[in-house]
Order: sequence, then structure tokens, then C-alpha cells
Amino acid sequence: MSNVVRKPIVVGNWKMNKNNAETKEFIQVCDQHCHDKADFGIAPSFLSLNTAVSHASNLLIAAQNCHFEKSGAFTGEVAIPMLEEIGVRYVIVGHSERRQYDNETDEKINKKVHALFAAGMVPIVCVGETLTEFEANQTEAVVRRQVKDCLAGLSKEDAAKVVVAYEPVWAIGTGKSATMEIAQATCKIVRQQVLEMFDESVANQLRIQYGGSVKPENIKEYLSQEDIDGALIGGASLKTDSFIEIINALK
Ligand code: PGA
Repeated sequence: MSNVVRKPIVVGNWKMNKNNAETKEFIQVCDQHCHDKADFGIAPSFLSLNTAVSHASNLLIAAQNCHFEKSGAFTGEVAIPMLEEIGVRYVIVGHSERRQYDNETDEKINKKVHALFAAGMVPIVCVGETLTEFEANQTEAVVRRQVKDCLAGLSKEDAAKVVVAYEPVWAIGTGKSATMEIAQATCKIVRQQVLEMFDESVANQLRIQYGGSVKPENIKEYLSQEDIDGALIGGASLKTDSFIEIINALK
């Protein structure tokens, strides 16, 4: 399943960090370092998205979540048309922290994925096993099930545009990254699952990110793996120096 050139996509997931002033400052320093060997983006908090969109020329701006309904009685939620209005085009869905703390299920994620495509936006769908599942050798079963349930019912055309982020939960924010072999093997399983659900062309176009303690020192090696086409980066995306190093590492 090679021979297809997939442009790498690297996104900084800022989680609950940085206010508007800090977002603006970060973009003023980093945006100019982007280059066309890869797509680079950041996912600030909802409150800083407007600032981010208005200051970024090169960085893609992603939200960290959305609701699947267009409007309604959902206190504290943010609707896709609200993100659309300010120019956001990418949304992270199903991050493990949301699965863990906010009852994000594959069924909900699937609804969000469909709603995002209906609005012409691109979902970054996070999947990955917990430490208990990893230790019980359930990685393949868990990741296959998550991909299957989160992407269920998509057209081939939309499925080809999805970005899947494989993030082993035990490697997030722990400093423990998955070995290249584990990361590659699991991303290959993701692609195989998508091939079985759709077809080879969709699987070939699908961009798969690895996430979990990615940093300037290891990003190049992860991205040199056949089935890894990018990274979702938490901690190392928060400092301008390390984010610029990451950008430069992919030149
Ligand atoms: P990390 O976070 O890079 O700090 O491990 C990754 C993520 O949660 O997306």
C-alpha cells in the first residue's frame, strides 16, 4: 500500500493552555516558520480560536472538540456552525482525555464526524488503547473497534479526508513514547481497518498521525515510518522553540 504521497500533518494540541495574548504571541513567532513539506497546525482553546484564525497565515487552526447538534439546549457546548463562522476547518474529536473525563463514546464521535463533514470540515479522530488494554494485548482489537465505530457510515470520499490520530493512552503526557515498531504496527492496523471498511484508494489517502510524547528529537523518526503521516503533539507544541524545532525537523 505504498507509492502514494501523503502530505504529513502535524498538529499541536494545546489542551487547556494559553489565553488569547499567548496564542497571538505564539503565532507571531511560529507561523512564518511553516513550510510546504507538511501541514502544520495548532488547536487552541475555544476562546482563543478567533485570535488564532485572524493571526495565522500558514498554521491550520483546529478546535479541540465540538457538539454534533447545530444548536440547542446543550449548556457549555460549542456547535460546528459557530466554529465555521470564525473560519475553523479542523476539529479534534475523541481525544482520550475527553473519552476518559467527559464520557466521549465512539457513538458520539461518529455523530461528530458526520456533522463535521456535513459542514465541509475535517475531523482529526483520536483512537488508542489504555495501559491495561496494551498490557492485555488488546491494542489491535481496541483500535480496530474504535476506527470502525468512529468512521461508520461515511462515504468513501469523506473517509479519504479523515485524519486519524493513533495515541496510545499510556504514552500521552507521560514522557513515555511508543517504540517506532509499536507506533508503525498500530498505524498499519488503522490503515488495514480502513481498507476493509472502504477500499484501497481510501486507505492510501488516509493520513494517520502518531501521538504521545512526540518531540523535536523523535518526530523525524516517527514520520519516516511507512504508515505514520504526521503527529498530534501536546507538551512539545506549547513552547515556540520546540514547535519551531519540530517544523524545521521536517524540512
Ligand atoms: P503529549 O500529548 O504530546 O503531551 O504526550 C499528546 C496528545 O494528548 O495529543
